[in-house]
Amino acid sequence: MSGADRRPPVRFPRDPAVSWAMPPPLALASHEGRAPGKVILVGEHAVVYGYRAIAASVDLFTTVSLHDRPGRSEVEDTDIWDARLGDALATIIPAEGVGVSISSELPTGCGMGSSAALAVAAVRAAARREGRTASFEECFERGMAIERVFHGNPSGLDHTVSALGCPVIFRRGERAVPLRLAAPIRLVVANTGTPGDTAAMVDLVKARKPEAELLRLGALTEMVAARLALGHPVGPFLHEAHWLLRRIGVSTRELDELCRAMEAAGAEGAKLAGAGGGGIVIAQVTPATEDAVRRAASRQVDDRVYTVSIGG
Ligand code: PMV
Repeated sequence: MSGADRRPPVRFPRDPAVSWAMPPPLALASHEGRAPGKVILVGEHAVVYGYRAIAASVDLFTTVSLHDRPGRSEVEDTDIWDARLGDALATIIPAEGVGVSISSELPTGCGMGSSAALAVAAVRAAARREGRTASFEECFERGMAIERVFHGNPSGLDHTVSALGCPVIFRRGERAVPLRLAAPIRLVVANTGTPGDTAAMVDLVKARKPEAELLRLGALTEMVAARLALGHPVGPFLHEAHWLLRRIGVSTRELDELCRAMEAAGAEGAKLAGAGGGGIVIAQVTPATEDAVRRAASRQVDDRVYTVSIGG
């Protein structure tokens, strides 16, 4: 997804005559759904080749509110603007009679799962409107329809993590398994603001076939899983994962510099997270190092810095 500006509300499905919609005159009962974004902790790219990866929900959320309105359904207010938004929501929301508001704490287009959080939040809100609570299966099935509009043929990982709301370990083609952490970890997330192109990065790795690096990345996932279960720091493993991802060609100078700066400021380890080519860096921090690492990241990416807890 891209672009976070407030723009004119979107009619759906696919109405070229996008128009400003008037908000309802009275405060009407609204039905809300909320869901978190995600980060990939370790194992991206290797997961494409059958190794396991670890991803976790983050405490940044998207909320979708639905209320009745006369006439065509409209997105009346949104923090996420994307040309595909109307088509995506039309997969679960009726074309008539629904006003939609979307608020999101998640940056878009950087691998933090903003479209997945939107999908799960929308499914939950739609179920609430029918007086029900959406099950995980419903979030997965109906959320996939939304994710397909945004990403074509997604693995389903992002909205699985969003719907489960916890760390998971997963292998392609298998159902993700919740991962229990002995203690929560804190990550500083720095968003370069440069969108990464997941499909292009996956193709690049496919062309290079870096088997030794992918094997090692898969091994790092297993070690990180074991350490998280014991409450041991994983920073050095994140550090190694970044430089392996760099060797396979998916890092950029900007991502490398961010990793160096955050580690120099005290992070236990930093890596790009997601497909690469842009997007985010994550760094494991402690209460003692968090502020310095945030400041170091801010010097490079301004205010696009977040602190998230995993497994809390
Ligand atoms: O672009 P993201 O952050 O959703 O991550 C893509 C992860 C890859 O392993 C590179 C691709 C995939 O389908 O798993």
